[in-house]
Amino acid sequence: MLQVVLLSGGSGTRLWPLSREAYPKQFLPLAGDATMVQDTWSRAAALTTLTPIVVANEEHRFLVAEQLRQIGAPVPDIVLEPVGRNTAPAIAAAALQARAGGDDPVLLVLPSDHVVRDVPAFHAAVLEALPAAEAGALVTFGIRASAPETGFGYIQAGPGEGVRPVLRFVEKPDAETARGYLASGDHVWNSGMFLFRASRYLDELARFRPDILDAVQRSFDAASRDGDFVRLDREAFAASPSDSIDYAVMEKTADARVLPVDIGWNDVGSWSALWDVSEQDEHGNAGHGDVIAVDSRNSYAYSRRLVALVGVDDLVVVETDDAVLVARKDRVQQVKDVVARLKADQ
Ligand code: GDD
Ligand code: MG
Repeated sequence: MLQVVLLSGGSGTRLWPLSREAYPKQFLPLAGDATMVQDTWSRAAALTTLTPIVVANEEHRFLVAEQLRQIGAPVPDIVLEPVGRNTAPAIAAAALQARAGGDDPVLLVLPSDHVVRDVPAFHAAVLEALPAAEAGALVTFGIRASAPETGFGYIQAGPGEGVRPVLRFVEKPDAETARGYLASGDHVWNSGMFLFRASRYLDELARFRPDILDAVQRSFDAASRDGDFVRLDREAFAASPSDSIDYAVMEKTADARVLPVDIGWNDVGSWSALWDVSEQDEHGNAGHGDVIAVDSRNSYAYSRRLVALVGVDDLVVVETDDAVLVARKDRVQQVKDVVARLKADQ
């Protein structure tokens, strides 16, 4: 029994000004016609007959329900967080919801900010990893590392084929460490997609972060339920420490396993990542909307109006109704600093 958990609570600050608190990136059609959360369900639907569990911020309850309805998804259980506390508590709430009926399904936890080009290969990978997860492992899917990215988790995989032991899991190393891992040739990136039994995740969280599990358990027990919405108790949930599954559990557990995969995976976390996954012209220019590029290379524009680029390389231009972003493509990670500044000024 496999149940999909859609994580849909991030705010996507590095994709400002398009991605906003009220309308973050997972609800936008960034890499095609469907939105990111719609794509995420569509690529997983064939793997399961169970209805999905969505964990999202309370503010986005109608957006998420409506977007899934639009694509004919089965009506999901929607667990609503009153505040964001990162993925360790979010997945705990999903696991408690999955256990509520007395079952103990294997959860396929999917972030809603990924592009996967090879869906058949993704299906094959999940099915290959399923027996290990059923037997109690916490499985992640490894992506061949191609750059010393500091925004990913790095996994040193044990020898062998298929699902392997994890020798080391390091979440978001500094640049020098990342370069070392890349050079070693035996590290893969953590894709951020996980496969484990609901009970196994809860057990490991109880072992390593009982403070998080306690808070989430209390918020779940005191949740109010209306229709398909499970509203976690505000006060209890807010009392949970904020941490990601990667730091809270995956770095620490002895039962982590990794299946290296080649599925055309991409984390659409920043404007340069979006440029990466977009169709580019022969000079490497890409965009969403009308773009004319003259003597320009490797640039990206996103706008409803016509954008003309002349004599520029490696530039990002994004225009929305109320803001314009112009950035060097190698500096787009710092877009989150703009958002921090705006917040501070509020
Ligand atoms: N419901 C909910 N609540 N979802 C959340 C929350 C939250 O508080 N915080 C983040 N998410 C969702 C995001 O929307 C995204 O879909 C997913 O969880 C992962 O969060 P990110 O914030 O995007 O994590 P990351 O990209 O920095 O790092 C993770 O993904 C990398 C690969 O993309 C880690 O797992 C890394 O190890 C991994 O390499
Ligand atoms: Mg991400």
